[in-house]
Amino acid sequence: MTDRYLLVLDEGTTSTRAMLYAPDGRRIAMAQAELTQYYPQPGWVEHDAAEIWTRTRDCARQMVERAGGADRIAAIGITNQRETVVAWDRRTGEPLAPAIVWQDRRTTAQCAALRDAGHEAMLQQRTGLVVDPYFSASKMRWLIDNVPAVAQAGDRLALGTIESWLVWKLTGGLHVSDASNASRTQLVALDGTDWDPALCDLFGVPRAALPEIVDNAGAFGETLAALFGGAIPIRGLAGDQQAASIGQACLTPGDAKATLGTGAFILANMGAQLPASRHRLLGTLLYRIGDQRIYALEGSIFIAGNLIKWLRDQLGLIGSAEETEALARSVPDSGGVLMLPALAGLGAPHWRPDVNGVIAGLTQGSTRAHIVRAALESLSHQLSDLATAFAADGAPWRQLRIDGGMSANDWIAQDIADMLDVSVDRPADVETTALGAAMLAGLGAGLFRSLNEAATMAGKTIRFDPAMLPQPRDARLSAWHRLRDRTLAS
Ligand code: G3P
Repeated sequence: MTDRYLLVLDEGTTSTRAMLYAPDGRRIAMAQAELTQYYPQPGWVEHDAAEIWTRTRDCARQMVERAGGADRIAAIGITNQRETVVAWDRRTGEPLAPAIVWQDRRTTAQCAALRDAGHEAMLQQRTGLVVDPYFSASKMRWLIDNVPAVAQAGDRLALGTIESWLVWKLTGGLHVSDASNASRTQLVALDGTDWDPALCDLFGVPRAALPEIVDNAGAFGETLAALFGGAIPIRGLAGDQQAASIGQACLTPGDAKATLGTGAFILANMGAQLPASRHRLLGTLLYRIGDQRIYALEGSIFIAGNLIKWLRDQLGLIGSAEETEALARSVPDSGGVLMLPALAGLGAPHWRPDVNGVIAGLTQGSTRAHIVRAALESLSHQLSDLATAFAADGAPWRQLRIDGGMSANDWIAQDIADMLDVSVDRPADVETTALGAAMLAGLGAGLFRSLNEAATMAGKTIRFDPAMLPQPRDARLSAWHRLRDRTLAS
């Protein structure tokens, strides 16, 4: 075993981080920077790709310095918010437009037109994904149709998701995407290894602008020596939800995890079997390493931690996310307040980009604590909808592993166990997305022979067992179902 470190770049929706891991799994240090969120119109969400790059690079530099220099780092692993699209100029390496974020709903009409033209069943069967603005393909087409600099770039145009953008900048022009991120574009067949020409034609995305698709672990390239005072090999790449599954050691069919980050994403390992949901879940690639292809069934909730951020930044109801636990505990229930947190439309299993959020049941007796508690409760309510869909698809959650920043809240962890009536396990270090990227980088660098061996990096977990009686659970779920169904019908 080497005494050198693994450097993870974890580029999420709201912040970017660099973390240094020892190969035994200890997290040695972390640097973090917030990312600016732009909301130029209702339903639109943009990032500045140049800011993503410079903040990620600066965090990485801090970690390289902390490690004692580039030669103290065995490999880099990159993990990222998925589906977000960057268009850049191959000649200058500069962005041609704001990045369109996965939550952005500007292509709702484009998606409705695809459905009206009868493409939905084919797209779901071929890609595992439903027709929704969430995925990258319609965002790529929007950039070509609406941004003159993108339309006129010709063969200088490069399109990619965030890991592609970062690898391009780190290496000075290598254009790759890993198989897990590529599986979220809707331009690759679920069992395919390359861009599908028919799908590229349907969405009007030029194949020549897209990267080469590579494995999740392997020798992809090296950073420019000038960036960190020496070249560092890049050995692991994965979308953040796939990386979190790996970091949670969901390596056996049936293992399921929920990452509570900006959104909440539940992935259940389906093994080598191609998932085909009949209940509006997604089939997605979990990882591809050599000739091994492992799939997952996914339920995507668009707003989780972002709801808490919204309570803090837009409403000013709380000063920090940590306050929510004490506030939720300060009242016996939500006092009849119910929240449907569709701030970016509704994801799985409803797929309604047109629906907006609702706070219901307000009275003169409603307090800040009731509203905060209703916000936290809404996560379990949405998870309960997904649990029903997973079970109907033959993949029930026998137990759930949770991770991500919001999972550190004990009240939420217990509420999920109570409302789903399953045991919930939480690792001592909830940053399993980064851990998964470290495992992939370690595998790619030859420090481990398999992902199972890399899973020795994972630490201990704490268990939350269900403790709620059926009656209050059923009452809460009935109220949620009424609000949800009324809103979806309106
Ligand atoms: O699919 C979107 C997802 O990758 C975003 O993850 O961690 O920013 O909630 P996160």
